[in-house]
Amino acid sequence: MAQLWGGRFTKETDRLVYQFNASISFDQKFFEQDIRGSKAHVAMLAKQGILNGEEKRQITEGLDGILQDVREGKLAITEEYEDIHSFVEANLTARIGDAGKKLHTGRSRNDQVALDMKLYVRDEIDAVDEELYRLLLALQKIMEENLHTYMPGFTHLQKAQPVTLAHHVGAYFEMFVRDRSRLLDIRKRMNTCPLGAGALAGTTYPLDREYTAELLDFDAPTRNSMDSVSDRDYVIELLCALSTIMMHLSRFCEEIILWNSNEYRFVEIDDAYSTGSSIMPQKKNPDIAELVRGKTGRVYGALTSLLTTMKGIPLAYNKDMQEDKELTFDAIDTVKGCLALFTGMISTMKFNRENMEESAKNGFTNATDAADYLVNHGVPFRDAHGIVGQLVLKCLERGISLDELPLEEYREISPVFQEDIYEAIRLDTCVEKRMTLGAPGSQVMERIVRENREYLKSEKNACILS
Ligand code: ARG
Repeated sequence: MAQLWGGRFTKETDRLVYQFNASISFDQKFFEQDIRGSKAHVAMLAKQGILNGEEKRQITEGLDGILQDVREGKLAITEEYEDIHSFVEANLTARIGDAGKKLHTGRSRNDQVALDMKLYVRDEIDAVDEELYRLLLALQKIMEENLHTYMPGFTHLQKAQPVTLAHHVGAYFEMFVRDRSRLLDIRKRMNTCPLGAGALAGTTYPLDREYTAELLDFDAPTRNSMDSVSDRDYVIELLCALSTIMMHLSRFCEEIILWNSNEYRFVEIDDAYSTGSSIMPQKKNPDIAELVRGKTGRVYGALTSLLTTMKGIPLAYNKDMQEDKELTFDAIDTVKGCLALFTGMISTMKFNRENMEESAKNGFTNATDAADYLVNHGVPFRDAHGIVGQLVLKCLERGISLDELPLEEYREISPVFQEDIYEAIRLDTCVEKRMTLGAPGSQVMERIVRENREYLKSEKNACILS
């Protein structure tokens, strides 16, 4: 049991207490960020004359050596240390001797852990953003290929009006673009450096906080030392953004599960992304989509958990805050995994275009257009609605669609109908006439797809994959 704070104590910590208190089993996840932060801190201490050049060199080389040895598997991070900060400091001193003991000058684990968590979250925001970008590329491809793939649009899970697959997928494109901009907002707002806040009240050493902030790519140092060590707002914001991503993925998964069912048969999930049943040989189950939907609850759980943890904590640092880590790491890994698998699943999924179109043709998705036809011939909309309602009833009784109902029967209910009603309610007419911005008509959708393409190619985005 290697502890940094033994001086004041006369007894060994109880083993269970030690284990309960320790965080190394999970905070080793930000080992690299811890080293990075320490190197910046040391560079600043030397610049300010608090350490001499030789001490700076020894500590920096020592930290680099630890980093390399851990990366190469020569040095294991073991549970004999309380946390990752103790692991690094103990190994540094073992390596370089007394100079190692000066690393923690003007620093507390409170500002150190606040820094590590920020550095980690910032890196992971970029990683999640990259997964979102890859997903958008996959969605864009589906959109480009399906501007004329007709399918029913639903409300209340009842067929409503016809749309296209490009339009339907385009709705998710918008959601995931918003998710990216939410991450970017969080990244901007959180980008201040807590290092130098000390335990809670700053330090008496002449630290240059602007300098460490700059070395670590922050926009500025934080402005209040008590807030610096006890702020976890950005983690909560991140968990909220991650929950929203999962909510979007989960809705999409729910649709794919329906579309893949024997009843819909709109899509077929690739064999590589499906699983079988141990008893029923005919089964091919959409387990990946179901798991993504299921894991959504887990990410929501992390958000609720941290909000609850934080709500009663007096200023400044309290140990409760150690609870932010496991659930945040788990939520981040869950979302990255789900995004990657989901992207793979929809990129390999087969769309049964005929079934989609056939489904759009049945179920009176053109009833609104029949009413619009009457309105265009001077009938008030409310009357037109009633007339078409009667026509639908007639069709239902006979098991036919509006396209199959003879003209005489149309005219029995309203003499306004002419031969051109059939053209007005044809599936492609219904879709292509919807040309208001944001509607499924291919002319406006082409514009959206073009704008998407420019967005995906924009400078910031293109560099993600290069
Ligand atoms: N493992 C701790 C955490 O995650 C590091 C900070 C410890 N600070 C302290 N005063 N005990 O929050």
